Amino acid sequence: MRDMAAAVAGRADGAAGCLCVLCGLPAAGKSTLASRIVCAAAEQGWRGIVVPYDNLIPEHAFRIKGGEDSQDMHTEWKSHRRAVLQCIQQFLEDPDVRMEQQSCSLINNTAWEKCIQSLTSESFPSDEAPFLFLLDDNFYYPSMRYEVFQLARKYSLGFCQIYLQCDLESCMRRNHSRSQPIPADVMMEMAKRLEPPNPEKNSWETQSLSINTSSNLSKCDIQRVMDLISSALNNPLSAAEDNTEQKEADRQKCANSVVHQADQACRRLISEAMKTAKDYQITSEDMRSLATHLNESKAGLLHHLRQQLLQEA
Ligand SMILES: *[C@@H]1O[C@H](CO)[C@@H](O)[C@H](O)[C@H]1NC(C)=O
Ligand SMILES: *[C@@H]1O[C@H](CO)[C@@H](O)[C@H](O)[C@H]1NC(C)=O
Ligand SMILES: *[C@@H]1O[C@H](CO)[C@@H](O)[C@H](O)[C@H]1NC(C)=O
Ligand SMILES: *[C@@H]1O[C@H](CO)[C@@H](O)[C@H](O)[C@H]1NC(C)=O
Ligand SMILES: *[C@@H]1O[C@H](CO)[C@@H](O)[C@H](O)[C@H]1NC(C)=O
Repeated sequence: MRDMAAAVAGRADGAAGCLCVLCGLPAAGKSTLASRIVCAAAEQGWRGIVVPYDNLIPEHAFRIKGGEDSQDMHTEWKSHRRAVLQCIQQFLEDPDVRMEQQSCSLINNTAWEKCIQSLTSESFPSDEAPFLFLLDDNFYYPSMRYEVFQLARKYSLGFCQIYLQCDLESCMRRNHSRSQPIPADVMMEMAKRLEPPNPEKNSWETQSLSINTSSNLSKCDIQRVMDLISSALNNPLSAAEDNTEQKEADRQKCANSVVHQADQACRRLISEAMKTAKDYQITSEDMRSLATHLNESKAGLLHHLRQQLLQEA
């Protein structure tokens, strides 16, 4: 397994591996799809494994309860999710390091060992074979998926997302036969919050597809998934993009701050001008039109200021 670190470090033909996000409601059929992909991947000579968040983070599916207001829970859950990605990262860095040494208390180590067992076992003919991590969680916010994208980019891996589109009723029907059924309120809350991949809005979500899992999976569905993964493996992300994105974020932040300060100053000036106008006892109609005029000037000024700031390199 030593060779994997070397394989990650440099492959001429495509990526050493691929991180694939499976996203959708509980009981949308993610685990079923995942095991079908693992079989299909083996036929391609890829080493596929499933990363089942439900098993790695005990009772995590229920953590959405409490909503936005329970900030502590939100933060705690976030660190659990990060821990899963850290385990993957650790594995990419050095597959021989065992979990015990990492003292990673946030996830179930036994479940993690079980999950990567097949990657480290002798069942694969070659360490050179591309690996495929199928991340099985709900991933209902883009920010959750973006963390996976960042990890893939850091290691120049392929990245893709599969959205399992399934109507709430079908999910609820299937839920009853699950070993860990999901409470109805959790399911509704998640359905409300779910933001499926949107490549038009987020360029990093380009490699995404949706499949309708309201009824049984077809051979054609699996073929589409395999084509997507194949394309992701052939087009690894580039770690160099890292920097440009950070710069862009910094630029926006800086512009926002300057515009905010200018806005505050303008408001003070407008307020003073209005007081002065009042002292001259002008009609209320003129007061209103003055307010509108000043307000429009301010909006125009701030708009131009922002544009200028963002144009400056
Ligand atoms: C951890 O995972 C193992 C294997 O999946 C399971 O048997 C065990 O009950 C889990 N432990 C906890 C505390 O959930
Ligand atoms: C899921 O199934 C359990 C057990 O059958 C039930 O208590 C729960 O309300 C169901 N949840 C949904 C969303 O239907
Ligand atoms: C998904 O498939 C089901 C059953 O085949 C169908 O009723 C439903 O309209 C489909 N949904 C979408 C969004 O295509
Ligand atoms: C879906 O698959 C199940 C189990 O394999 C089968 O019993 C059922 O008839 C299938 N449904 C359809 C619509 O093909
Ligand atoms: C000032 O303009 C903004 C939009 O630019 C508008 O939302 C706001 O209501 C206006 N305020 C006044 C006092 O006219």
